[in-house]
Amino acid sequence: MSRRPSRPALSDLLLLLLILLFSLLLSFLFWKAIEVGADSAVRVKKSAELPLRFRYDGTFKILQVADMHFGNGAVTRCRDVFPSESARCSDLNTTQFLRRMIEAEKPDLVAFTGDNIFGTSATDAAESLFQVFRPAMESRIPWAAILGNHDQESTMTRGELMSFISLMDYSISQLNPPSFKIDGFGNYDIRVHGAFSSEMANTSVLNLYFLDSGDRAMVGGVRTYGWIRESQLAWLRTASQKLQQGIFPAPALSFFHIPIPEVRNLWYTGFVGKYQEAVACSIVNSGVLKSLVSMGDVKAVFLGHDHLNDFCGNIDGIWFCYGGGFGYHGYGRAGWPRRGRVISVQLRKGKKEWMGVETIRTWKRLDDGNLSKIDEQVIWSGGGGEDLDH
Ligand SMILES: *[C@@H]1O[C@H](CO)[C@@H](O)[C@H](O)[C@H]1NC(C)=O
Ligand SMILES: *[C@@H]1O[C@H](CO)[C@@H](O)[C@H](O)[C@H]1NC(C)=O
Ligand SMILES: *[C@@H]1O[C@H](CO)[C@@H](O)[C@H](O)[C@H]1NC(C)=O
Repeated sequence: MSRRPSRPALSDLLLLLLILLFSLLLSFLFWKAIEVGADSAVRVKKSAELPLRFRYDGTFKILQVADMHFGNGAVTRCRDVFPSESARCSDLNTTQFLRRMIEAEKPDLVAFTGDNIFGTSATDAAESLFQVFRPAMESRIPWAAILGNHDQESTMTRGELMSFISLMDYSISQLNPPSFKIDGFGNYDIRVHGAFSSEMANTSVLNLYFLDSGDRAMVGGVRTYGWIRESQLAWLRTASQKLQQGIFPAPALSFFHIPIPEVRNLWYTGFVGKYQEAVACSIVNSGVLKSLVSMGDVKAVFLGHDHLNDFCGNIDGIWFCYGGGFGYHGYGRAGWPRRGRVISVQLRKGKKEWMGVETIRTWKRLDDGNLSKIDEQVIWSGGGGEDLDH
């Protein structure tokens, strides 16, 4: 009744061993193949869904982030914080603030208005760009950036920076308009279409103009800041004209880093927010205001550059608004919290569906523990067009 199991058991064991060895070999080859695959695979940019469009609730919200001044991350210290805060403050506080702002406002677009990195503190521009834009990339929210006067002071030229930025995940930034010979790097327009399933679904109802205001220049032996050149304005006027041929004349917003000289006059004519330092701009007035006024569609311009100014003021019917300093490695004022600006655009509700833009509002939030919301104001109220079914 008892069979002798010794011999079959041995061959079974050998067979098992063989199978084991074979599968080990197979999995080794499999992992090797994956490794090779990963090395040779082209990493494809994760793209945002375009065109941008208003939400079903008829809103579109932009978070403006000005002057992050990012260096090397954890090792880069904060400027102008209280001595008691200094030991535990670095670029990571800027990252944390950006994460919290995105979380709190859930914007449809993040607009970075220059001096994203502070070149002289950034050992490797690419690495700093990855770090500074990481919260935007991780949020999967489309984002657009332009350059300030400090971004190119590290290991990349302005052209290289804009190319690199345009290739980052969820970035909708562009180098320059195709088939236009133009000064600077980072001149482009972004269209925002009406809500899905509305009559305006395939029409741009809000246009965003991003411009490169340059870095520094010598003019007649005087060192001054850059300015927006005639070639850029010529492109802008053409783009604006083309975009205003829709059913309703779509309003537009513009974003650039360095203020225009006329912003200084707001000290005398009035503003909402804080005007705490001289407006630092070029000695050259290239006629940006004249162009914007003649175009007619730009309702507001969003600026950076002067970290202690966060005001909005109206010049010839156009609002000029500072974002206010956002980054901790940029200069600021201890006790005056770093801040960011929100722009909220609302469509008009027609009889049956969303129409054109009705109102544009703006406010700021402070990095003060409560993300306090301040200085909310309506900057444009346009009616949003007549009902199409009249
Ligand atoms: C910077 O971040 C650290 C860690 O979250 C925090 O403890 C510190 O208060 C922050 N500093 C400032 C000035 O916000
Ligand atoms: C918008 O375009 C899509 C795709 O081409 C089309 O199906 C839809 O009917 C268009 N909507 C309007 C309002 O023109
Ligand atoms: C945050 O809000 C709470 C509750 O309103 C308040 O007590 C606190 O002072 C606020 N903190 C700051 C920094 O504004």
